[in-house]
Amino acid sequence: MCGIFAYNGKKKNAPEIVVEGLKRLEYRGYDSWGIAYKTETGIEIKKDVGKIGDLKPSEQNFKESTGIAIGHSRWATHGEVTKQNAHPHVSDKKEIALVHNGIFENYLEIKKYLKKKGHKFTSQTDTEVIAHLIEEHSKTHSFEDSVKMAIKEMEGRYAIVVIKKDEDKIIAARKGSPLIVGVGKEGEYFIASDIPAFLKHTKKVIYLDDNQLCVVDKSKIEFFEHASPDPIEKRIIEIEWDEESAEKGEFPHFMIKEIMEQKDTLNRAINQDPQVLEDLAKEVKKAFGTYFIGCGTAGKVAMLGEYLFAKIAKKHINCCFGSEFKNYKNFLTEKTLLVAISQSGETADTLEAMEIAKERGVKVAAIVNVESSSIARMADIVVPIKVGPEKAVASTKATTAQIAILTLLAYACNGGIKNGKQLLINTASQINDMLNPRYEDYIMKVAKKIKDVESMYIIGRGINYPIALEAAIKLQEVSYIHAEGFAGGELKHGPIALISKETPVIALVSNDENKNEILSNATEVKSRGGYIIGVSPENHPVFDYWIKVPDTGHTSPIVNIIPIQILAYQLAVLRKNDPDKPRNLAKSVTVK
Ligand code: G6P
Repeated sequence: MCGIFAYNGKKKNAPEIVVEGLKRLEYRGYDSWGIAYKTETGIEIKKDVGKIGDLKPSEQNFKESTGIAIGHSRWATHGEVTKQNAHPHVSDKKEIALVHNGIFENYLEIKKYLKKKGHKFTSQTDTEVIAHLIEEHSKTHSFEDSVKMAIKEMEGRYAIVVIKKDEDKIIAARKGSPLIVGVGKEGEYFIASDIPAFLKHTKKVIYLDDNQLCVVDKSKIEFFEHASPDPIEKRIIEIEWDEESAEKGEFPHFMIKEIMEQKDTLNRAINQDPQVLEDLAKEVKKAFGTYFIGCGTAGKVAMLGEYLFAKIAKKHINCCFGSEFKNYKNFLTEKTLLVAISQSGETADTLEAMEIAKERGVKVAAIVNVESSSIARMADIVVPIKVGPEKAVASTKATTAQIAILTLLAYACNGGIKNGKQLLINTASQINDMLNPRYEDYIMKVAKKIKDVESMYIIGRGINYPIALEAAIKLQEVSYIHAEGFAGGELKHGPIALISKETPVIALVSNDENKNEILSNATEVKSRGGYIIGVSPENHPVFDYWIKVPDTGHTSPIVNIIPIQILAYQLAVLRKNDPDKPRNLAKSVTVK
């Protein structure tokens, strides 16, 4: 949610470096963008609405900089999408320029105080208030102290990066929203919301932790805790991700690249230290009350976990969205286990749920992709899913890897981790066979048929019910077609009224105990004129169109969601939407 990129070094083309970095972070927010950079005479600002990816090099016309620039790609929270509300924001005298990710919760109160002091505001954002607050403090204090004083007064989760007219420094601070420092060559530093943004320049990183701040000047970088004047030591870590894995390569979009990577990512997820999973399985068995939580797609994976554990481990798991978890706080004790599921590891609602749990002595585990993320660092046990950077907003390869880990965990809980692993290895090889151009062409036929419909529905039962819900998310977010998932048995209690002639209904039909019933539900829909697209290992007479998937038993949720991911992608392309950057959405949701 919002991308931040900053550069402090010797290169005079700092603004271009920041623009390029922001383009790599656009998946975090893309309704407007802006940069601020220092020249010999002051601070220059350039901002606009729309995607920074559309900015051509010829339109940049930047002046020569002193090697300091900060930038932002916005996902609007406070204030609509306008040039005025785009970051960076500046103070009254334009001495301070600042970019911000997160929400400054008590900004109205502070704005009122600053207005009384004579400050004039030009935007509706909470961010502009921070710039004015820092300027107010800097009338009597140093730049560093002014930033420290301002963040002491700020409530909420945030990451900020600030520059000042007469200083050769960048100050960055975080509490709840990610910021990572990239250490380049010869006193060159990058600061970004995510590592892929500066991978091209360096693989050496320093993670800024919550309640920490860093001051980068031309010769050194120093780190502090927010409340302390003494510098702290931070470790430089060399990361493994390569630049190529964060690039599209021969693919037109990240979404299809990441769908295709599922030929390989399932194996990467399951081929890891089995001890980590055994340890987590031990905790699940020991716990008195286990909660699986996540948001968005990860929330649907959590729900699927409940079904997988009921089926494979014969164990009851509670599941809920991160944002709903606080409603269960009265049930949390030291015997409870919380398993947080997240791709980015930065989702604010999931983090808040973990904080609530930790306050009550609950043991917390995380199934997460970004191993350096806040969620991973807060967890007592971390199971990484190891799929590499996922950049398309719509989660695909991270989803199936999370499902694979939960499946394996359920097997580990019933003492059969080897069987689980073998099943997943077989599934991975069947996915490898499935993901070929002929399969894509076959799905394209149905995509062309339904591309102009107003609504579509997905039905499933048992382990395919959460997959029906996830399928709906996938279709909604990139095709913008109204899509809803239902439990097959619930249709007759209301949703069937929505079916009219040719309404597409995707039926997820696996060879399990729910098969006959879900086929009956599909027949009920067909009798009302619905057009049935069956996702199943076998063709059934009720299907108008059959999308074949391998028969993989307990891993059928994985193979069933893949053709829907492809269908969603194809619908997005046919409808001329950008599948990587769907409207109104962001990849990493760091606000509540
Ligand atoms: C956003 C993304 C989704 C993701 C959800 C949770 O809504 O667009 O793809 O499922 O956040 O994110 P997380 O990083 O915690 O999995």
